[in-house]
Amino acid sequence: MTSTLITNIGELVTNDPARQTADDILGLVADAAVVLEHGQVAWVGATAEAPEADAYVDAGGRAAIPGFVDSHAHLVFAGDRAPEFAARMAGTPYAAGGIRTTVAATRAATDWELTGRVAALVTEMRRQGTTTVEIKSGYGLTVRDEARSLAIARQFTEETTFLGAHVVPEGSEPDEYVALVAGTMLEACAPHARWIDVFCERGAFDADQARTVLAAGAAVGLRGRLHANQLGPGPGVQLAAELGLVAVDHCTYLEDDDVSALADSGTVATLLPGVEFSTRQPYPDARRLIDAGVAVAIASDCNPGSSYTSSMPLCVALAVREMRMTPAEATYAATAGGAAALDRNDIGRLVPGARADLVLLDAPSHVHLAYRPGVPLVLATWVGGHLLDG
Ligand code: NIG
Ligand code: FE
Repeated sequence: MTSTLITNIGELVTNDPARQTADDILGLVADAAVVLEHGQVAWVGATAEAPEADAYVDAGGRAAIPGFVDSHAHLVFAGDRAPEFAARMAGTPYAAGGIRTTVAATRAATDWELTGRVAALVTEMRRQGTTTVEIKSGYGLTVRDEARSLAIARQFTEETTFLGAHVVPEGSEPDEYVALVAGTMLEACAPHARWIDVFCERGAFDADQARTVLAAGAAVGLRGRLHANQLGPGPGVQLAAELGLVAVDHCTYLEDDDVSALADSGTVATLLPGVEFSTRQPYPDARRLIDAGVAVAIASDCNPGSSYTSSMPLCVALAVREMRMTPAEATYAATAGGAAALDRNDIGRLVPGARADLVLLDAPSHVHLAYRPGVPLVLATWVGGHLLDG
């Protein structure tokens, strides 16, 4: 089978800059058709004008969107922290110290167990329409455990991120640990990673330590990103803007200067509403960012501590309901926004030449992603032109 024509798409979200207007950031096409060929989108247009193909799919008037690009996830871990979540819901505040519980479980797990857990989470994600996922290390925090976390992640995605600087592990001295991360650990991890990340937050790493780690990563070709301003105001967002990083993630507590720095630098602010849902913290102010001209992405932050969801549709619904994004803005942020946060222009949009990552919704429009929260609306997913089973 070389080409597939999907016809009768009631509403197609293209995110095509050439089709976008002031009133339509999604570049919508009504009564649309798409041709997928050789793993790419070969043609987009009206069903009435569609070319011939080798195989045909009738979308029955349903909506189609680009596959979700989940640009922030921590999938390599063992155990879970359900008791910590239950305690939080009974009033105990979230503390990043829980990360150490997962570190102990992850170190004790075999490669086989960890690989199986990642496979299960990636399968969950795909069933919910995610066609690209970034996967971080960060629950190993030894040279061996960080390197094997990334080697496992690399089996599932090309978007792998070295997060040795997640927290200082128990028993380590902070400056010595930073030197290890920026030295031997980086050396072992760099071959498996595209990105390097630091949790720049009170209780984790400060701005100087983050600079040290990011500079060491840059010297061996890893591009930087940051976890910042999650638990309180801090220097991380300004640092990301100053260094011209592609993305800075969380952005929950922002000062006016942080917002203007992001708008000026073009750094994507990745918002992770699953975290605020699961930690009962205030949601980031997406409207303030968007109205200031900051590029925004939405991602799951899937991890056992602060956001144990693999569901981008849930994150879209939360972004709309709790962060006052419009359904169109949230859909865009979860697709093209995620692609921008990974500096990719071959995904997150349905235009000729893009990767053939397409999700058919059992709904007439993208609005239903937020309008029907919790309902499994993903009917079919193509990744690189391949229709996924089940
Ligand atoms: O992105 N902020 C730091 N890291 C994760 C939380 C990890 C955990 O609690 O296990 C996050 O929210
Ligand atoms: Fe995270």
